[in-house]
Amino acid sequence: MQEAVALSNGVCMPLVGFGTYRIRGRETIFSVIKAALQAGYRSIDTAAVYGNESDIGEALQQCMPELGLTRKDIFITSKLSPCDQGREECKQAFSLSLCNLKLDYLDLFLIHWPGVHKLKPDDPRNRELRNQSWASLEEIYKSGKVRAIGVSNYTVSHLEDLQHATVLPHVNQVEYHPHYLQKELKQFCKSQGIHFQAYSSLGTTVKENPLLQDPSVIRLANKHSCSPAQILLYWATQQGVSVLPKSTNEEHIRENIQLNFELSTEDLGALSNININS
Ligand code: A2P
Repeated sequence: MQEAVALSNGVCMPLVGFGTYRIRGRETIFSVIKAALQAGYRSIDTAAVYGNESDIGEALQQCMPELGLTRKDIFITSKLSPCDQGREECKQAFSLSLCNLKLDYLDLFLIHWPGVHKLKPDDPRNRELRNQSWASLEEIYKSGKVRAIGVSNYTVSHLEDLQHATVLPHVNQVEYHPHYLQKELKQFCKSQGIHFQAYSSLGTTVKENPLLQDPSVIRLANKHSCSPAQILLYWATQQGVSVLPKSTNEEHIRENIQLNFELSTEDLGALSNININS
């Protein structure tokens, strides 16, 4: 049984999910989805902007019965594109995601970005439209077509804007790793009961990925006879932060879900002190 976290509405979400950003092409999708399910992943994260929902939907339809899995065994997340912010647009986009994924409900649906496509960050329409999208998500949630709703890339001030909402976000999915600790945001999410979910846990939005080469990470990997990637994933999950490692390499796919070792409090603390941006 894979470790899971309970969201504020009681829905359980696996702590390790399979990320699919930039994984494209039917053949590649079919092989990574099969490898991920075989390795034990029970959570798949996608988004309308990734352009892979249809292929993921087909791959799931084919692989799940082969592996003896049913829909309720898998936790599926997708996200609203910044092109589709707004009350009606959001509803239509959600329906399209469901249709592309060939599902009749989603486990989690997130507003992918607080901003709206083609609007400048200081344009007040960003706020108006993302709040309209949130109102739509609340309706979709109440209709039962999605088990949990949330946001992605939201800062504290974006989250504060949702204080009036009848349903608070269950999840905020953001970049998080030892080079980007986002302490204030993490603390704020905790205080509001919003689950803090990490993308880029391996630090890969930074060029050439210095995090996997970091001497503290390598020292711990040697000490625990595991890989630097496993150390980084364990560091996050140990704090209750869910992770979404992405890979097209079958060995990495398997390795990223095998986090069967223990890091001491001292080891974990050493990683939290190497950040270059807190
Ligand atoms: P690969 O497909 O070769 O495994 P993201 O930050 O979007 O999750 O991207 C993860 C990146 O890290 C991918 O480029 C992936 O490349 C790489 N990666 C994933 N798992 C591992 C691992 N266990 N060891 C080294 N690199 C990894």
